[in-house]
Amino acid sequence: MLIREAKLSDAAKIARVNVETWKSTYQELLPPQQLALVTFPDRKNYAREIIKSKDKGIVVAEMERGEIVGFAAFGPERAGGLPFKGELYVIYVLKAFQRKGIGSRLMMAVRKKLLEMGIHSLMVWTLYNNPYQRFYQALGGTIVYARTLDIEGFKTLERAYGWWEIGTMFAESQHRNQML
Ligand SMILES: CC(C)(COP(=O)(O)OP(=O)(O)OC[C@H]1O[C@@H](n2cnc3c(N)ncnc32)[C@H](O)[C@@H]1OP(=O)(O)O)[C@@H](O)C(=O)NCCC(=O)NCCS
Repeated sequence: MLIREAKLSDAAKIARVNVETWKSTYQELLPPQQLALVTFPDRKNYAREIIKSKDKGIVVAEMERGEIVGFAAFGPERAGGLPFKGELYVIYVLKAFQRKGIGSRLMMAVRKKLLEMGIHSLMVWTLYNNPYQRFYQALGGTIVYARTLDIEGFKTLERAYGWWEIGTMFAESQHRNQML
């Protein structure tokens, strides 16, 4: 498996991972109407815009036969006014490929890219009841903010995990670091 920067020609494959993983993750957390808001054309455009932009990026996990099974999108913090310079916009690994270290490898690539951009702090928003937030906890992230989220009339809570210094993100998992 290869972790690499995304190209424009990857946009459709990234969108497929996005839509599939969105459904498998959020079907128990969101009502059907909100679940249906994430569509393939919309996600493809989203991926294209990020890949084309100068200050944002996507890294992908690609299998030997060219299948993309995970991706992470990152760039400057979007809300503005928060003391974190970088933001992980989204990270998704297809269900069948989860818990194999792919998400961690994607985060290592994100960290490398952000450090190259001179960005040392990072945050990510997640639904308060998303069980996958254990991933951010395992990487040493701590809860730094909470806010109400209104998804077309469905109100829920979001919390943000933060890392003040991403250089230390994998410090508490040295064993894993050596294995990856
Ligand atoms: C979150 C996600 C990107 C993690 O990717 P991954 O490849 O499964 O993660 P890794 O295998 O690198 O896991 C690293 C560690 O994180 C923790 N972890 C990851 N997923 C977890 C889960 N579902 N429950 C508990 N701990 C978890 C574990 O400590 C794990 O180490 P271990 O497997 O040795 O116990 C992936 O599971 C995913 O796409 N989830 C659905 C989408 C999602 O919720 N994305 C985040 C949106 S905010």
